[in-house]
Formats: sequence, C-alpha cells, structure tokens
Amino acid sequence: VKVQGIDPSKLTITRTTTPKTLVPPEELVFGKTFTDHMLSLEWTASSGWLPARIIPYQNLSLDPATCVFHYAFECFEGMKAYKDKDGRIRLFRPGKNMERLNKSAARIALPTLEGSALIDVISKFVSLEERFIPSARGYSLYLRPTLIGTQRTLGVGPPGSALLFVIASPVGPYYPTGFKAVSLETTDYAVRAWPGGVGDKKLGANYAPGIVPQLEAAKRGFQQNLWLFGEEGYITEVGTMNFFAAIRDKETGQKELVTAPLDGTILEGVTRDSILELAREKLRPEGWLISERKFTIGDLAVAADEGRLLEAFGAGTAAVVSPVRRISWKGRLVDCGLKEGEEAGEITSRMKDWIEGRQYGDEEHEWSYVI
Ligand code: COI
Repeated sequence: VKVQGIDPSKLTITRTTTPKTLVPPEELVFGKTFTDHMLSLEWTASSGWLPARIIPYQNLSLDPATCVFHYAFECFEGMKAYKDKDGRIRLFRPGKNMERLNKSAARIALPTLEGSALIDVISKFVSLEERFIPSARGYSLYLRPTLIGTQRTLGVGPPGSALLFVIASPVGPYYPTGFKAVSLETTDYAVRAWPGGVGDKKLGANYAPGIVPQLEAAKRGFQQNLWLFGEEGYITEVGTMNFFAAIRDKETGQKELVTAPLDGTILEGVTRDSILELAREKLRPEGWLISERKFTIGDLAVAADEGRLLEAFGAGTAAVVSPVRRISWKGRLVDCGLKEGEEAGEITSRMKDWIEGRQYGDEEHEWSYVI
C-alpha cells in the first residue's frame, strides 16, 4: 500500500477549558465515556494530509450529503494504551494497527498514511490524556482511530476529502468479575464474510449486519454467533472476534491449537497474531501443533463427542480472550470442554496472562511500544 506523508512536527494542541470528572474505574462501561480531547487530521485530494490537531472532544459537523452517510466510506481500528508498574504508557504492537488501517482505507478509496507518523501523534494525544488511563491490571485506554470520507456529494466515486480522528475511552476488564464463558449459536443463514469480499478489512459496514443475527441468537439464550461459511460449515469467527480451539488428535494424541487461515474472509486480528506467535514460542516446545487451517463445526462436534475438544475461545483487542462453554448446532449442543463451574480452560487463561504480561510491560518485549 502506497502511503501518504504526515508531518508530526506540525501537530497543534488546543486544550479543553472544561476538563471532565473521571469516572471511577469500577463504573467504566466499554466505550461509553471518553477523554477530554480528540486527535483530528483532515485530508484533501489536492493537498494531502493537513497538520494533525489535538482539539477538545467535540461533535462533528457534516453536511447531510457527506459520502460517509450514504456509501459507508468508513474504516476503523481498535487498540489500547496501558499504564505499566512504573507509570509509563505503552501501546501494544501499534504498527500492526497502522498496517491494517492502510489496507482497509485502500480498499474503500480512502487515503493511506505513514504509520510511524500517526503513531507519533497518537502518542502525543495519549500522553495528554494520561490521567484517564487507569493503572490497575485489566484496565486500559481504548483508542479508536476512525477514517471517513467527507466529500459532500451523492455521486458514487472516490472521496475527494477525508477525516481521520482518534477518540479514547477508558475501559476496564471485559469481565469485571473474572472470566465468564459464553455460549454460541452457529449462524449459517447469514454470512459474515465471503471470498473476494471485505470481511478481512476493518470496515464499519462489516459490523452493522451482525447485530440482527446476534439478537436472534440472544432470543434463544446464546450470547454470540459462531459464523460458519459454506456447505461444509467452516468455522470463521465468533461475534466480532477470531476463534480458536484446542483439540487432541484422535490417532496421535497430539494437542493442536487451531484457528482459521487468513484466506480473505478472516479479520487479521492483532490478538489473533499475538496468540499464534505466543503459542509457537511457548506451546510448541510442550509438544503442541499450532495450525492456521480450515476446520468445520462437524470436526469440533466429533472431537467433543470423543472427549478431544479441550477448549475454545474468542480473541480480540476488547476482551483479549473470551472462553466458550458450548455451541448450539443443528439442534444439538457441542460441549467445549469446560468442567462444571469452570469459566476458562488452562490454555485460555495462560494465553491471557502471557499477552497481558507483554501489554503491561511486565515482560520487556518488542511488541510493547513505550511512549
Ligand atoms: C475486538 O476488539 O474484539 C473488536 O472487534 C472491537 C469491537 C469493539 C468492534
């Protein structure tokens, strides 16, 4: 992807005159409260990226004919800033988010940008909002870089102007009372992504169509959809997360951690990639096979029947890992290996600890970007 330059040295800062009162950490709800400021960068086809600005958090004012409202010129990222034990602020693999933002933007004719320069201005923004980053384990500042087409036209074409903004929301642990294993309903009547589609890009347009199927699943008592693809029933993703299963092989007895391959229908999750790398580093020496391959709900059901489905979990930035208790499929329930009263399997818990160790900088690692 060809990127367009931004000059971080031209950043300007306008501070708020009405600082917000901090919400007590235990009252934080994901994505409900925001910091004092936002980062804003405008782009035009003729001038490229204009200097970045940090401004008080505020409403956008857009003409009703703005192309984002009509043709969904929107992509976004999800990333987090963490406070470490020495009070330093750390981002987690921000370069990965920049790469993905550029891939998403390029796919919908929005401008790309130089990742390192954006990380630079995001770092300044996050530093300014330091007081909003809780330091307790499980807490962080969720960052939402968002890119929209802003051209005022109903004509269908590449936007001649765009706006990139970053807002920040202090968040607590996804499960404040500890892990809560979720139950899933397989979804095949609706399809999240398909070959040649845009399911591997982080477009807002991929998320709205998932809500009605989620409500359908909720009616029957299931918290999330397990998105299947094709006659074969390939497992792709769970809700808005990537999906992992731990299975013992029938013949060899070898344990395998498996997730769907990046074939264009799977979001390139940063947490997904981190889990795979950690698994190769820490589980492979214990004899595990680590696989990115296609597998079906039928495969999981057989493994469960034979007592070989050890655990299953979702993986994403918001929840890190989300353990799965059971999956409803064709009128039966596939049991995902949790014991009575248990909320997470051993691999799920170890993965969470390993990732958080690097996110919070307990373990000094190149994935952690100190601001
Ligand atoms: C995730 O972090 O798992 C996400 O997909 C972000 C979600 C809030 C859209």
